[in-house]
Amino acid sequence: MAGVSGSSLSSGSGGSPRVKWLTDLDKSAIVSNFEKRGWVKGSLEDGDWNFYFCSVYTARSMFSVDSGFRLADDQMISHFPTHYRLTRKDCMVKNIRRYRKDLERDGSPLAERDERGRFIHLDFIPVTFMLPADYNIFVEEFRRHPSSTWIMKPAGKAQGTGIFLINKLSQLKKWSKDPTKSSQVPHTREVYVISRYIENPLLIGGKKFDLRLYVLVTTFRPLKAYMYRLGFCRFCTVKYNTSVSELDNMFVHLTNVSIQKHGDEYNASHGGKWPVENLKLYIEGTRGKEASDKVFEDIHWQICALSEGRSERHVQRQTLLRMLRV
Ligand SMILES: Nc1ncnc2c1ncn2[C@@H]1O[C@H](COP(=O)(O)OP(=O)(O)O)[C@@H](O)[C@H]1O
Ligand SMILES: [Mg+2]
Repeated sequence: MAGVSGSSLSSGSGGSPRVKWLTDLDKSAIVSNFEKRGWVKGSLEDGDWNFYFCSVYTARSMFSVDSGFRLADDQMISHFPTHYRLTRKDCMVKNIRRYRKDLERDGSPLAERDERGRFIHLDFIPVTFMLPADYNIFVEEFRRHPSSTWIMKPAGKAQGTGIFLINKLSQLKKWSKDPTKSSQVPHTREVYVISRYIENPLLIGGKKFDLRLYVLVTTFRPLKAYMYRLGFCRFCTVKYNTSVSELDNMFVHLTNVSIQKHGDEYNASHGGKWPVENLKLYIEGTRGKEASDKVFEDIHWQICALSEGRSERHVQRQTLLRMLRV
């Protein structure tokens, strides 16, 4: 990529500029969307492209120290080269901690706490620790609430991979000694995050669900975020149940489609999904319009806070396309 120079938008027949696209992903949804817009295929070799829908690996190698490559003003890619700083679970926890600390230091009203010392407005992620680094403080917290359940997640994985629930400290000790789960060399052991498990989620039809919302952040300073209207709810296939015997049943506890699609009850035609509009109607119908408006107002506020909290100084000034998964 070294030495690749700038690019330009070509003119379509009507004189309007045509975006030149590239992709290294074999996905027809991407290509057909480009073509539907009348965009034309660009050339990587000539540096003649405007939008490169690339894999995270390509994005990283494009900006490697040796390449010296820089984007021209009219070029955009689909990932931050250092995307993992935004998406890894441990980095997200660190960013949110830092965001809260910065707001507190600046005396922001957003950092207000209640009489028990808990954040009033910034209480949007459950208490979370990183393991093994925070093991001792986690144990203190665990002992303060011995009947709580906790969820363990590998910091660098996705789609529910490697996630499990615990409600006893001995389960964690067993995990740390399991050679298949952790390396024998302590400092190369995979990092996990452990969060307080939300045990009383809102259920619909007795089932747990979460929300997949798409947000486009075009600038961090000032923060400009657009929410895609067609978000959806993702449902578990098995009714929610907090009994200890179901603690290992991921069809009850994890809403990831990648997990649920392996269940006997999975419905491939709707994929266990509901448009977010249905959720709005459901809350309006069961709890009233005011409650529904409040939920969605809170969601919008949390998206803004998460976007700010996730943005680090090194990316704040960049205007890049990034789909934040909230
Ligand atoms: N603290 C929590 N309390 C309750 N359920 C949780 C919690 N964290 C995650 N989950 C469930 O586990 C799923 C996977 O967690 P997530 O953090 O999104 O990891 P992944 O990146 O693997 O999808 C979520 O979609 C949700 O259903
Ligand atoms: Mg997830």
